[in-house]
Amino acid sequence: MTDMIVNLHSELLEEKLEQKGVIIRRVVPPEKHVVLEWVGKHFSEKWVSECDVACSVTPADCFIAVKDKELLGFACIDTTFRNFFGPTGVKEEERGQGIGQQLLIHSLKEMKNKGYAYAIIGDAGPVGFYRAKVGAVPIENKPALQYIEYLD
Ligand SMILES: CC(C)(COP(=O)(O)OP(=O)(O)OC[C@H]1O[C@@H](n2cnc3c(N)ncnc32)[C@H](O)[C@@H]1OP(=O)(O)O)[C@@H](O)C(=O)NCCC(=O)NCCS
Repeated sequence: MTDMIVNLHSELLEEKLEQKGVIIRRVVPPEKHVVLEWVGKHFSEKWVSECDVACSVTPADCFIAVKDKELLGFACIDTTFRNFFGPTGVKEEERGQGIGQQLLIHSLKEMKNKGYAYAIIGDAGPVGFYRAKVGAVPIENKPALQYIEYLD
């Protein structure tokens, strides 16, 4: 795994994405428990911890993809470290329809609005996805989080 860097001024972030009835929006506090339970069910406890951090600030640093009141995906920013994107995930049966890309671009635009020029994608699993969608490039070094022997 590797951290990756994205230029937030890239024209790839200006791409018009097809909506397909999916709304990308910020988590609001009354639904935090629903989001955390969903992340635990579809992903991992480690990601629940990170998502909890993202949902515990106002406004939240967590964005969700919703269709007909169903949660389909999530993405966090400024969570593992400041300036980091992730974790993110889309429900397995809903992948491949552009929802991950919508969440990614929406989140990176928010980071640009916060004043960052670049974002780091932490411990990127699908390197090809990030390269193709937003022109991210791998950072030659081990991921920042791996320098810490955290408890998992
Ligand atoms: C990565 C993820 C969020 C993408 O969500 P998605 O809704 O399927 O994304 P999109 O539909 O916008 O884009 C899918 C594209 O990414 C590509 N892709 C997905 N995973 C990939 C991978 N591991 N490596 C390379 N490409 C990948 C698909 O082939 C597809 O390509 P296409 O646009 O040319 O058809 C989703 O696959 C997921 O939840 N994965 C498990 C969790 C995870 O790995 N999160 C990232 C942690 S850093």
